Amino acid sequence: MAKKIRSSEITPESVFRQRRVILQAAGLGLGAAGTGIMMPEQLHAAAPEFKDLAQWPGSTDETRTTFEQATTYNNFYELGTDKGDPKKNADKLATTPWTVEVGGECEKGGNYALEDILKPHTFEERIYRLRCVEAWSMVIPWVGFPLADLLKRFEPNSKAKYVQFETIYDPDKLPGQKYPILQWPYAEGLRIDEAMHPLTLMAVGLYGKELPAQNGAPLRLVVPWKYGFKSIKSIVAINFVEEEPATSWNKSAPREYGFYSNVNPQVSHPRWSQAKERRLDSDSSGFSALFSEKRETEMFNGYADEVASLYEGMDLKKSF
Ligand code: MTE
Repeated sequence: MAKKIRSSEITPESVFRQRRVILQAAGLGLGAAGTGIMMPEQLHAAAPEFKDLAQWPGSTDETRTTFEQATTYNNFYELGTDKGDPKKNADKLATTPWTVEVGGECEKGGNYALEDILKPHTFEERIYRLRCVEAWSMVIPWVGFPLADLLKRFEPNSKAKYVQFETIYDPDKLPGQKYPILQWPYAEGLRIDEAMHPLTLMAVGLYGKELPAQNGAPLRLVVPWKYGFKSIKSIVAINFVEEEPATSWNKSAPREYGFYSNVNPQVSHPRWSQAKERRLDSDSSGFSALFSEKRETEMFNGYADEVASLYEGMDLKKSF
């Protein structure tokens, strides 16, 4: 049985950096690293095992955002529009039971219980930076598995050119959904090759812990080369479609938010430049980060080597 070790005891930065990390379920007595099966409720009891695996190309060694910052300064409009609201209203999001409805252009559509979604997957910890809309960025060790591994199980057919995702709709419980801030439910989409890209993660946790409600429990996307709003939280529906799907932010302000939303310092938002950002990390404590010095934003949020080829031949000023 794996010994329980808190990650804080065993994660000197030097060990953590540039390593892919496999989390194994504590107490399950599972075999080799990478075969651990873990339910979200077991995540917080998980003993991370830090393996010297081949360097994973997306991993960043930048100073990390603190757990406190990542879980108290959030955008999750269903739980309120102030950055502190999602944490305050976290108890309004009921995550058990949780079902994901899969449909559209695939062979294996249907209603899947969260347990069935998670069961066959191997959980990995990946340190990505997430670039948000209002010009700040974070570096977060997410726990999850490649979205591609999940989507392949539903056997999309050749008409599946895009994937659309939806968040839970429950206006009686979710305070933000009482107001028409966006058209509910929150919806997002990716082109199928973006969805299948190895950087795209279905996250179930962060910092070795189960995802808190405010970060999108129990399942959320992380698409690290795109603005944060593409990383849809608390997913209850996945649809394979032939045409580019409607997305919440694009519907509410089409001039401001395009379908692609790739981080691109050369394309300004109509109301602000996207050339610089503030980093929320342990060097910028709490909200003082908002007054810290700005840094240059990188094309595709620093993941150009991995993803630029997806957009070859496209005019990214038009397809923003
Ligand atoms: N998903 C839903 N369902 N509702 C939201 O309001 N906000 C998005 C995205 N996913 C949002 C959402 C935005 S604008 C950002 S920047 C990220 O979540 C923030 O993720 P974080 O709070 O975990 O940092």
